[in-house]
Parts: sequence; structure tokens; C-alpha cells
Amino acid sequence: MVRPVYIYGSPVLRKVAQDITPDYPNLDSLISDMFETMEQSDGIGLAAPQIGLSIRLFVVDGTPLAEDDPNLKDFRRVFINAHITERGGEKTIYNEGCLSIPGLHEDVERESTIKIRYVDRNFVEHEEVYSGMAARIIQHEYDHLDGILFTDRVSPIRKQLLRAKLNAIAKGKFSASYKYRLAK
Ligand code: NI
Repeated sequence: MVRPVYIYGSPVLRKVAQDITPDYPNLDSLISDMFETMEQSDGIGLAAPQIGLSIRLFVVDGTPLAEDDPNLKDFRRVFINAHITERGGEKTIYNEGCLSIPGLHEDVERESTIKIRYVDRNFVEHEEVYSGMAARIIQHEYDHLDGILFTDRVSPIRKQLLRAKLNAIAKGKFSASYKYRLAK
């Protein structure tokens, strides 16, 4: 089932999300809903706060970008109780967007390598190192779990310039081809 994407201005996007336990209700259908919602909106990542749930879970699917970056060939998975334990490498800049901030794209600087600890849908623990575009997608989604949006990571001057645009988005002044939900 496709769920509505919560838009900039929704308080849940600013909360620090919590870990979950294996008895979390209907986890399997939640995960498939998240994949479905991400696909329907042409996203390459979706974090639970973006569908209104303040839990440390996100899904990614970088496979549409595998032509440009062969490392993304199998990069489709769910990260539960994710915690980045190390960040490093060269910083790189990339023009990011976010399903919760429709129509806005900004250059964001991020570290190129990360180490992340998480459990999969069977609650099996993993610790993995990612770099390049995979590391960027993970960092963007991971930020959502800490209540951080990519627009928080632009320069102070850009931030100033974005304020009016973000306020307009929060009021619904944008077009999006997917189901969404504005803050009440
Ligand atoms: Ni996002």
C-alpha cells in the first residue's frame, strides 16, 4: 500500500527517531509499503519519518543509478535500527533532493565513506562500509532519523535564500506526482 509522504513542516520530520524491537507491529507490511511508496514516487530512498513514523528504519534502492555507478547494482535494502559509527574520506558535493521537499534541489557536501551498523528485516546484525553514491544515499536517509533535512546542510547564505521557498512548500505550493500530506 502506497502511503502519503509527509512534507516539510511536518513535526515528525524534526524528531529523533527511536530503535524498534522485533515485535514491532506489522513490520513486514510496513517495509513493503515503504518500498512501494518509494517506487511510486521515483525515490531512491525513503525514511520512516517521511511516512509519519518516528522509528529508525529506512529503505534504499540505488539500482536505477547503477548505469552511472556499478556499485549500486545490488543496492536495494532495508536498514533497521541504523547507527553510523564512522565517517571519513574526501568530502564530495552532489545536488540532492528529497520527497519531503518537492521541487527543491541543492548542492550538499558529505563525507564519501561511512561505516554503518544495522539489522535487516530478520533482525540479523550487520556492520558494513559504503562509499560513493551509496554512502551519500545512506547519509541522506540516516539524517531523516535524526530530524535533519538536506536543506540544513547548505551554506548559511543558501539557507537564508531558501527560507521563503521552504515556507511555500510547507503551505502546499508545489506540484508532486505522488500522494503527500501537509502539516496540519
Ligand atoms: Ni529525504
